Amino acid sequence: MPLEFSERVARLPTYPVAGGYAGDAPLVRLASNESPYPPLPEVRAAIERALGTLNRYPDPANSLLRRRLSDRYGVPQSRIAIGNGSCDILLAAGEALLEPGAELVYSWPSFSVYPHLGAASGARAITVALDDEDRHDLPAMLREITVATRLAIICNPNNPTSTAITLREIAAFLDEVPPHVCVIVDEAYCEFNLLEDPDASIDLLDHHPNLMLLRTFSKVHGLCGLRVGFALCGSERLPQALDQVRQPFFCNALAQAAAVEALEHQDAVIDRVARNVAERISVAERLRALGIEPAESQANFCWFSLGAERDEQAVMRGLQERGVLVRGGTALGGAGSLRVTYGTPQENARFLDALAEVL
Ligand SMILES: Cc1ncc(COP(=O)(O)O)c(C=O)c1O
Repeated sequence: MPLEFSERVARLPTYPVAGGYAGDAPLVRLASNESPYPPLPEVRAAIERALGTLNRYPDPANSLLRRRLSDRYGVPQSRIAIGNGSCDILLAAGEALLEPGAELVYSWPSFSVYPHLGAASGARAITVALDDEDRHDLPAMLREITVATRLAIICNPNNPTSTAITLREIAAFLDEVPPHVCVIVDEAYCEFNLLEDPDASIDLLDHHPNLMLLRTFSKVHGLCGLRVGFALCGSERLPQALDQVRQPFFCNALAQAAAVEALEHQDAVIDRVARNVAERISVAERLRALGIEPAESQANFCWFSLGAERDEQAVMRGLQERGVLVRGGTALGGAGSLRVTYGTPQENARFLDALAEVL
């Protein structure tokens, strides 16, 4: 007799993981929207200092990290949630808010963890198509909100399409959403967005107790290997509910120490964003020279259609044979497109040379 699993397990989609972890060959890893830059020396030193405390459980309240985040963003500590990566906060929000009979609304294609929330909880997921420029269509999302809606998610800038919408559009959406609906604005890539000051959305929290701004140390801070994210919330009830559904020690001691130190290095954030934007411009130029028009990126990655005559799987294989890992759109809800993280100038040149050969 085979093992019998819950119905929930049959419903849950498998997260499309990137390859390239097993082999020894040097690879250009442009598949997971990581930072190409290693942790800062000061962050490494903070991690090393924390190593000596590993015989103790980590601080379950994440006190120092929440205090520093509160100082940095001007949001009371009681309205800040920490997570084992921001995915952990997303999953906890799904658990805290959703159940059979409830609904959640998000755009598609968007971050591949969102479908997990409906499948895990039994809530009905309503997906709304992006507009012609691969951007969120907030008026269309608003039309899908009903008395049964518990959660709406806006990914800005959007993964996988790299596009952003304006804060004005988000503010107008929030003004219309009924107060019983929690709105998560997933801002994993906000530091790379040149359309607005990344911190401008924080003012919205004072007017919308149902709002959660989701952020992470995984992207611009380059700490995805440690898993630490946070949410700035419009009310205390949100972090409280998240903490109720999770195990107590969800953020490890090294991650807490590294995040506290990373917050001290805003200059590094600015430098990394500047380098990223320079690569964004030069990669877009070279893609256009190959006859490819990327979406307007406000993130640390680009998104483009390969065109009807090219086979996504064949292009992916060709790139992989040349040691370059990128993401195929099929796994992300956009068949026929590629999502490519900006790496170092050398990595991007390798990707573009490989792409030119493959095409
Ligand atoms: C839109 C978006 N949100 C959240 C995350 C999760 O990041 P983490 O769990 O590493 O904080 C990612 C990671 O790729 C993402 O693309």
